[in-house]
Amino acid sequence: MNRFHEKVVLITGGGSGLGADAAKQLASEGAKLSLADLNKEGLEETKKTILKDFPDAAIHTITANVAHEEEVSSFVNETVKTFGKIDAFFNNAGIEGKQNLTEDFGEEEFNRVVSINLNGVFFGMMHVLKVMRKQGYGSIVNTASVGGIRGVGNQSGYAASKHGVVGLTRNSGK
Ligand SMILES: NC(=O)c1ccc[n+]([C@@H]2O[C@H](COP(=O)([O-])OP(=O)(O)OC[C@H]3O[C@@H](n4cnc5c(N)ncnc54)[C@H](O)[C@@H]3O)[C@@H](O)[C@H]2O)c1
Repeated sequence: MNRFHEKVVLITGGGSGLGADAAKQLASEGAKLSLADLNKEGLEETKKTILKDFPDAAIHTITANVAHEEEVSSFVNETVKTFGKIDAFFNNAGIEGKQNLTEDFGEEEFNRVVSINLNGVFFGMMHVLKVMRKQGYGSIVNTASVGGIRGVGNQSGYAASKHGVVGLTRNSGK
């Protein structure tokens, strides 16, 4: 299958788990990949694994924190500079956060989880949508969770942030 031949796909959280697996699958179908993650070693591992099976794959890696708007802006710009466009964006980086009762969850941990899982997804959409509106095409897939449609015990930050991702996604029409 070559469904993604010449397509440029940007993935956050490409250094592990769902992001790394999606990257491998997309490379197998011909995509050019721009992978962003906080974890530099994880990115290198994903790249190495893909190149082992697909030596001609075009892969650009960027170490960045999605919770920082200026870093998101940078990796979106860098992707366009490298590949000329963004056909698809897998807005996927996220963390589970610590488990605790809401009253004991703590402001710092709540802010940490929300800043990555929700602010990070918002910053990604904000910057990539500008590129896609200009291009006149493009697709975005945001990773939420079952925790985005119902409560998950002892995970206030996760449930609140993932409900936010579902809301953001529903709210992103014209
Ligand atoms: N695995 C599951 O069962 C499951 C279920 C529902 C939703 N999810 C969601 O799927 C997404 C991917 O999760 P996963 O299971 O692959 O986890 P994972 O931990 O394997 O991968 C997440 C990646 O995101 C990166 N990351 C974390 N914080 C970051 C930041 N601030 N900036 C940039 N990169 C950052 C990590 O370094 C890691 O490489 C997450 O949004 C997660 O909430 C996962």
